[in-house]
Amino acid sequence: MLDISFPKASLPKAGALVLLLAEDDLAAGPWQEADEATGGAVLRALQAAEFKGKKGQVTTILAPGAGLSRVIAIGLGLRAKLTSIVAENAGASAVTALSAESEAVIDARALAGGPLGAEGAADLALGAVLRAWRFDKYRTTEKSEDKPKLAALSILSADPAGARAAWAPRKALAEGVFLTRTLVSEPPNVLFPAEMAERCVALEKLGVQVEVLGPKEMKKHGMGAILGVAQGSVQEPRIVVMRWNGSGKGKKASQPLCFIGKGVTFDTGGISIKPAGGMEDMKWDMAGAGTVIGLMAALAGRKAKVDVVGLVGLVENMPSGSAQRPGDVVKTASGQTVEVINTDAEGRLVLADVLWYAQQKFQPKFMVDLATLTGAIIVALGHEHAGLFSNDDALSQQLIASGGTVGEALWRMPLGDAYDKQIRSDIADMKNVGGGRAGGSITAAQFIQRFVESRDGQPIPWAHLDIAGTAWSSKDQGPVPKGATAFGVRLLDRLVADHYEG
Ligand code: BES
Ligand code: MN
Ligand code: ZN
Repeated sequence: MLDISFPKASLPKAGALVLLLAEDDLAAGPWQEADEATGGAVLRALQAAEFKGKKGQVTTILAPGAGLSRVIAIGLGLRAKLTSIVAENAGASAVTALSAESEAVIDARALAGGPLGAEGAADLALGAVLRAWRFDKYRTTEKSEDKPKLAALSILSADPAGARAAWAPRKALAEGVFLTRTLVSEPPNVLFPAEMAERCVALEKLGVQVEVLGPKEMKKHGMGAILGVAQGSVQEPRIVVMRWNGSGKGKKASQPLCFIGKGVTFDTGGISIKPAGGMEDMKWDMAGAGTVIGLMAALAGRKAKVDVVGLVGLVENMPSGSAQRPGDVVKTASGQTVEVINTDAEGRLVLADVLWYAQQKFQPKFMVDLATLTGAIIVALGHEHAGLFSNDDALSQQLIASGGTVGEALWRMPLGDAYDKQIRSDIADMKNVGGGRAGGSITAAQFIQRFVESRDGQPIPWAHLDIAGTAWSSKDQGPVPKGATAFGVRLLDRLVADHYEG
């Protein structure tokens, strides 16, 4: 991670300086100190570049004097309209503009006085570290001069102590995001279910209690659905249960929040095999699980005052002589039977058994599952929103609002009997796909909903996030570099912080 510090404000005598400017700052602002030091070179350059402080505007001034190698001006838009996303994007822009420098000072005093207060400098830091992350463990021949050099940022703010305090939880969040991005980026020969379970066990050092179930325990619980998916692979499946008890209430008093992730470490489709083109993308079919693991790391890392259980179903979906066939009927742990029409609709089978386990073992206050479940959600929503399906309006509103504040957008999709009818089977309790391609994300969600139980006559609050379109990005976007996005870690961390702590 980039090294972040919040020193007392003083301008550097050498190296790179980043100036943040709101549109309101053009007449007078903290940038004037650097302008004076460089004998007016900064203002002359900003005027020549027609820099107006508009949101996202970036101007680089090379060798302006006073020993500085470069001054980079970044626009913030109007001060009254500052949001944490604007500050994060400024941090991300700084990182891109600084790729040739090894360290830099960012004068973020212009953020003070806006609605963000001392948090603004910490938001800026978060945007910077998130953007600077890079997965390069398998690059062995890259020349050092081709690697990004930036290693440290000093952020000048109006309230360094306040900024430092606001940075601590964001740093833990960034560690969680990086864990998710790493897991999702790892190749499928390295990250198979048992290895992924080991990476969960490593969270014990943060105080997370970790329990791992293998095929023997799955058989004992009658988990025929996840076992059916696993049976075509030489890799054994795992279910991992991660518990963070941060409320201080003790186990009995608490109804934990349950987060459940689909962890298909590689999805070939099985006997209903996928076409070769792009199949390598299916290494990230474990992104739901990766998100739950990163979320647990973030919550434990910042010692969140909440009781949470993360559960992940880890399995590899392969075709082989022992693979399940289209037409097979499997019995889930809930007792309900499923006719497997398409072995490529495997995620819902995994979730069925993990959802059952969550409800057996815990008294979930609510359950949120995350899954790269359907290609159809990409047809519906593109890569801009993840699909939200839920039996609970209040939980849905909270999720949508949390997503809005952190830049992870959700769009609510419908559920209903007319869709549920489409997964009726002639020989079992249900089949694992709908009649045709129409409404494919919805029929998948209906399938999962069949495994949501009731408590005191009321269905347990549940939400399903279909993240097939948002788990991976083909372009850099602010604090999210191209590749694994860790979509959902920030959203759910924010959901917990805003509604379920303390
Ligand atoms: N993992 C895929 C969904 C997926 C597709 C994620 C593309 C990301 C990008 C899932 O297991 C799958 O194969 N779903 C099928 C369902 C179909 C067989 C009903 C699909 O979407 O085609
Ligand atoms: Mn599949
Ligand atoms: Zn899949």
